[in-house]
Amino acid sequence: MKLAYQHHLASLKWLGLNLSKKLTHTVLLSVGLGLVALTCSAADDTSAIERGAYLMKIGDCVACHTAVGGRELAGGLPFETPFGAVYSTNITSDKDTGMGKYSYDEFFDAMHHGVGINGNLYPAMPYTSYSLLTDQDTKAIYAYLMSTKPIKQANLDNDVYFPFNIRFGLKAWNLVAHDAKEFTPKKDKSEPWNRGNYLVNSLGHCGECHTPRDSLFAMEPDKHFQGAIIEGLEASNITPTELNRQNWTHDDLKSLFTEGYSRKGTVFGGMYPVVYHSFSHLTDSDMHAVSSYLLDTDEAVEAKALTFNGHQPKLPGYKLYTGYCAGCHGLNGEGRPNVAPAMAGNSTLDKASPHNIVAVMLKGIKSQHYNTTTSFYAMPAYADKLSDEQLRDLANYLRVTWSPQPGNLDLNTIRDLKEEIFEHD
Ligand code: HEC
Ligand code: HEC
Ligand code: HEC
Repeated sequence: MKLAYQHHLASLKWLGLNLSKKLTHTVLLSVGLGLVALTCSAADDTSAIERGAYLMKIGDCVACHTAVGGRELAGGLPFETPFGAVYSTNITSDKDTGMGKYSYDEFFDAMHHGVGINGNLYPAMPYTSYSLLTDQDTKAIYAYLMSTKPIKQANLDNDVYFPFNIRFGLKAWNLVAHDAKEFTPKKDKSEPWNRGNYLVNSLGHCGECHTPRDSLFAMEPDKHFQGAIIEGLEASNITPTELNRQNWTHDDLKSLFTEGYSRKGTVFGGMYPVVYHSFSHLTDSDMHAVSSYLLDTDEAVEAKALTFNGHQPKLPGYKLYTGYCAGCHGLNGEGRPNVAPAMAGNSTLDKASPHNIVAVMLKGIKSQHYNTTTSFYAMPAYADKLSDEQLRDLANYLRVTWSPQPGNLDLNTIRDLKEEIFEHD
């Protein structure tokens, strides 16, 4: 593995684990050769387990492998796939029902090739992204899993219907659609950029939602991060071109990923758990690596003034906005601390497709807790209050007032979107 050694040192430093290494070495010097091997491997085990714990957070394993109200990592959470429900499995160290029966090589195959002890895994388990994991990081995750408390809990049978209930069929899918590649750093890019690329595309598995899929449900490599519809929301285009066009800065992305809230708006839908369980745990240097990769630059990005083009009281959307929305989002779209985010400069408004504006107005957003200092009210659902014409007028008003997007949405666009959004209920 080409980058393993450097990478290992680098991630130790990121985790602040240099210290424990140094201590081990001091001990070694004073104890003499007999104990050297023992001390060394014990310390390596501990640091591998700690590193594994961190990597598991970034990979969001707990979120998927824990049932609602269930015990951590014991599995049983259902995933709706186009073919039926698939349940996550018990990955605690239990020997009968969990990972305890997996050797490292078998674990490696599950993580990289989607092949478990009982056959091919459904790609609800994002091995198509995890396959980029280095051997070293796969080992650290294995070490951590084997150190977890064993929980005896049998796996649930999947409800996937014929012919997809045959794991053999998945083998064929795997052969056509999954191409396990080793992660290779790009020589012409900086170290943070490469680290960010690795975190985002392997453990972060961001492409599983943000990259469109082809007819075989495989991520389309040439449309990497260009945006896709997931559970009735648009997992937006997050290519560097688009994020830079919307004037995201390193600090904006850092706020979004740590607090769920930023100068450019909030996270909601499938993006909220990503922040809450996973990316809010990134170390500072990993956070910088991620924003360097997403913005495709290590340099500071200038934060421009947030867009507010002034009100146009003659437009039908003006009355609707001041009547329904301004109480929370501010008359001039400036937002209110701990009530609602600003409309000015909000990236949800500044997109070619108004998908998420319409989805949010129709369905609202449940009250979300971000951290001890940041929380917002719930965003109400207006599906019963606003007609299609009013939805159109509001969406157009938000766009022309607080973004560079044109106010040219027509009724057909709104009706098509409505159908698409409710199709996923
Ligand atoms: C998006 C949800 C999701 C995430 C994130 C996820 N998994 Fe999974 N995982 C699943 C599902 C669903 C299955 C069951 C697939 C099947 O039965 O074919 C599974 C299966 C597995 C298996 C095979 C288990 C067995 O019992 O044979 C292993 C190992 C595994 N996951 C480890 C991990 C690790 C480690 C992480 C974090 C780095 C992780 N998973 C993150 C959904 C997820
Ligand atoms: C489970 C699906 C899912 C996963 C996984 C996911 N996202 Fe998202 N993401 C979304 C959705 C849906 C939105 C739109 C809602 C919003 O703005 O929060 C979004 C929005 C975003 C935005 C805001 C974009 C904008 O223009 O407002 C950024 C940035 C982002 N995601 C980055 C990431 C990164 C980086 C990862 C990987 C760590 C990731 N996402 C993983 C679903 C997902
Ligand atoms: C009771 C307060 C309240 C009212 C009234 C309200 N909103 Fe919201 N809105 C919120 C909150 C809170 C959020 C952010 C929720 C989150 O992401 O945690 C939000 C989010 C949004 C977003 C997504 C912004 C982002 O950060 O990405 C849009 C667009 C939006 N609201 C539009 C509207 C419109 C249009 C109206 C009037 C029809 C309206 N809101 C009325 C509280 C409100």
